[in-house]
Amino acid sequence: MPFVTELTRRLGIRVPVVQGGMMHVGTADLASAVSNAGGLGIITALIFPTPAALRAEIQRCRTLTAAPFGVNLTLLPAMVPPDYGAYAQAAIDEGVRIVETAGNSPGPVIAQLKRAGVTVLHKCTSIRHAQSAVKLGVDFLSIDGFECAGHVGESDITNFILLGRARQTLGVPFIASGGFADGWGLAAALVLGACGVNMGTRFMATVEAPIHRRIKDEIVRARETDTTLLLRRWRNTSRLYKNKVALEALRVEQESKTGDFSEVAALVSGKRGKEVFVNGDPEYGVWTTGQVIGLIHDIPTCDALVKRIEAEAETALRERLSLFTPEAKL
Ligand SMILES: Cc1cc2nc3c(=O)[nH]c(=O)nc-3n(C[C@H](O)[C@H](O)[C@H](O)COP(=O)(O)O)c2cc1C
Repeated sequence: MPFVTELTRRLGIRVPVVQGGMMHVGTADLASAVSNAGGLGIITALIFPTPAALRAEIQRCRTLTAAPFGVNLTLLPAMVPPDYGAYAQAAIDEGVRIVETAGNSPGPVIAQLKRAGVTVLHKCTSIRHAQSAVKLGVDFLSIDGFECAGHVGESDITNFILLGRARQTLGVPFIASGGFADGWGLAAALVLGACGVNMGTRFMATVEAPIHRRIKDEIVRARETDTTLLLRRWRNTSRLYKNKVALEALRVEQESKTGDFSEVAALVSGKRGKEVFVNGDPEYGVWTTGQVIGLIHDIPTCDALVKRIEAEAETALRERLSLFTPEAKL
């Protein structure tokens, strides 16, 4: 057991690697595979149309793993927001002990989870939001750098700075999210003061991720330059795979005279994005991926991936430590 960190101890997991919430991807199939591999798998609540359906998925996950797993609850602006409190209650009632929260105004949901004794990992992209979450009593922060897939925030600060700032200012244990795919990344995150890493894109290209094989192949083929930012104009900036639909949406965003969101709405529709993962056509709609896509070259099982990350991190740290030779005569 090479790594014992605040994260492994308090979550009861073996390897300090978390699979972040992923819309359309984070089902019990992936979450249980990550948890069985020794990391923390997370079911994404809003994949499921009702809190009752989430409860059924949590029950299904229990049949697939005896290891701890979590639930992600993402609070995003919407015309008709989901009943977040009811989703949180579904997780609580099913005995889930770990919840990853993300998004806007998480206060009431965090309070509800903390009252029920749930361990809360709050994911955010700025130190200001992290500090607010600390005041709300979260147990861990998940610091999502500008490299990350999905909602990158509006301040564009990469993890080298964000993680240093987190170490200097937060006083609460944090994990590093965005840009991680291998053990060198885990080793670097630990050295920068994090107690683990959170990965999204890397777990999409695994055997157990419930998405079409052609999308996994596309991830293996792609490079770090193959993402684009969209929706900055509406302060909802997202990092997406740079395909024709995303580029068309970006053109409309930049050229629109009205700035009316309805002009891009059809192009960035979640329905079309979801369909990409089912029909395997990477050009069918917009889909989320991080710059780390350039570091992904294979499609292993979660077990093989997590074991490899653990071994690589140990090797990387030992090798780097051997550079430290205070007695050496130069
Ligand atoms: C396909 C996909 C869907 C995602 N959906 C969500 C989501 O619903 N809620 C959330 O908090 N984060 C979501 N994320 C972000 C991940 O949880 C994680 O923070 C991010 O992927 C980290 O960056 P990385 O891809 O470089 O590892 C998503 C990421 C991907 C790749």
